[in-house]
Amino acid sequence: KRLILIGPPGSGKGTQSPLIKDEFCLCHLATGDMLRAAVAAKTPLGIKAKEAMDRGELVSDDLVVGIIDEAMKKPSCQKGFILDGFPRTVVQAQKLDEMLARQGTKIDKVLNFAIDDAILEERITGRWIHGASGRSYHNKFNPPKVSGIDDVTGEPLMQRKDDTAEVLKSRLEAFHRQTEPVIDYYSKKGLVANLHAEKPPKEVTTEVQKALS
Ligand code: AP5
Ligand code: ZN
Repeated sequence: KRLILIGPPGSGKGTQSPLIKDEFCLCHLATGDMLRAAVAAKTPLGIKAKEAMDRGELVSDDLVVGIIDEAMKKPSCQKGFILDGFPRTVVQAQKLDEMLARQGTKIDKVLNFAIDDAILEERITGRWIHGASGRSYHNKFNPPKVSGIDDVTGEPLMQRKDDTAEVLKSRLEAFHRQTEPVIDYYSKKGLVANLHAEKPPKEVTTEVQKALS
């Protein structure tokens, strides 16, 4: 399957991705994770992206389309993929359609993580991530087995630089202004499944499974 996950910051895209990935053996492409890795490694791409990310604004369409174009060439992504955090503008969605058309494929489903803005601040400010894998935890809703430590690798967890109440406001504004139109774009194609993303993680997983069956 070829899937897109769309939703505001903290709606649970990154939390549900590994579960979907394991069930359908898909490759998981998260532009946010890839950009954060580039920033940490101080690559030319990371240097270009850092400022916008720290402010909670979107980085340029050309940069992210380039990353996705490159990543989708991986053999593991040929049979299917989950796009987490991409496309986030209508221009990105159009470019993706062109990319897939060249390969003779198309998107099967768009999962819309619908949720009220008011719930998101607590999720964002309580989040802890494992930098290398992108795995995320929450100090209240999904705590690691040992506080501050990744369950899988035993490595320390960290907080994202953009996970403050202040930067969240810009990220939400970008979502409503630039990304919500992408949901309309795919609704017109009849591809959108709406999820109740405010429910507990396990219930959201059940909704995802129903949407994909
Ligand atoms: P990105 O990394 O994509 O961030 P985002 O879209 O803001 O989404 P998040 O990762 O914050 O949320 P999530 O839905 O994955 O939440 P999670 O599952 O972790 O992008 C970062 C930046 O990169 C952007 O601001 C932009 O600058 C740039 N960028 C990326 N892609 C781009 C693009 N295509 N174009 C331009 N710029 C781009 O969950 C959050 C927390 O809640 C966790 O702690 C989790 O444990 C908890 N939680 C999850 N589900 C539940 C639940 N059901 N109940 C209770 N708690 C839950
Ligand atoms: Zn995420």
